[in-house]
Amino acid sequence: MQSENETAEFLSILKETREQLVYFKELGVERIEGESPVSRSMETAVRQAETSVAESPGPQITGGAATTARAESAPESYTSDSPASSPATLFGDLAAPPVRIQKSSESFEEIWADIGDCTRCPLYQERTNIVHTDGNHKARLMFVGEAPGADEDAQARPFVGRAGQLLTKIIEAIGMKREEVLIGNVNRCRPPGNRPPTPEEASMCKPFLLREIAVVQPDVIVVLGNTAMKNLLDIKQGITRVRGQFQDYHGVKVMPTFHPAYLLRDPSKKKETWEDLKKVRDYLDTAPKRET
Ligand code: URA
Ligand code: URA
Repeated sequence: MQSENETAEFLSILKETREQLVYFKELGVERIEGESPVSRSMETAVRQAETSVAESPGPQITGGAATTARAESAPESYTSDSPASSPATLFGDLAAPPVRIQKSSESFEEIWADIGDCTRCPLYQERTNIVHTDGNHKARLMFVGEAPGADEDAQARPFVGRAGQLLTKIIEAIGMKREEVLIGNVNRCRPPGNRPPTPEEASMCKPFLLREIAVVQPDVIVVLGNTAMKNLLDIKQGITRVRGQFQDYHGVKVMPTFHPAYLLRDPSKKKETWEDLKKVRDYLDTAPKRET
């Protein structure tokens, strides 16, 4: 006879294993070094075990906590714009409500009107479209990339090319939909030949992204690759060193991870990104939900 704790722990290990299998399969990873291949029989075994546990008498696992909790209102202090005096921010306690950046009440339309038919930096010369931040303006999770590529420039939407399709799979692997999150770039015009934007180009465009962040106030921002990370955080080290470790942007948790374009070039790094995104998901599952 299993105790409730043992059953819960068993279920949680199964859930974890199953999610990892789905992620690897989705992302086309056949074999991760040092781990067994993602085989159909293993998947079936997990499914069978899950079914048998679910059918056995014992505590009912509803699995709805994360989504229902989303509607709960946040404590007063969570959305307050009081100075950063809370010990939670001093010690970076993951479970404690951070003191947030001041909430902005402007709309994305107002920000985009300010951007206008932008000629602030030379990147306007070769663009087809300005690629604005896309997605849910009340998102708890935001992704920031570098700059549009050819597909994004043509369609006026961020992350719609190959790297974008991989990003969509990564989002789905943590149980979210692309429409739920917010997706933006440091620069909104495509740099020629997909080179990274120069610091000057980035500094012209970034203030608009920061204004959008102040409007949305996501709980977590995932910065994809070096350009995004170094533009949002004052960090000298590279993404390979810093990835997987939560950073802070004015009280917003920031998770640096590899850029999906890099994962396309080196698929073996998908495992690290999965580890990083699991931390993000776990944080979102446990962080207090705020009013939107
Ligand atoms: N790479 C990026 O950094 N951003 C996009 O929107 C597409 C590809
Ligand atoms: N360098 C980057 O800029 N991004 C990555 O994801 C990896 C290396």
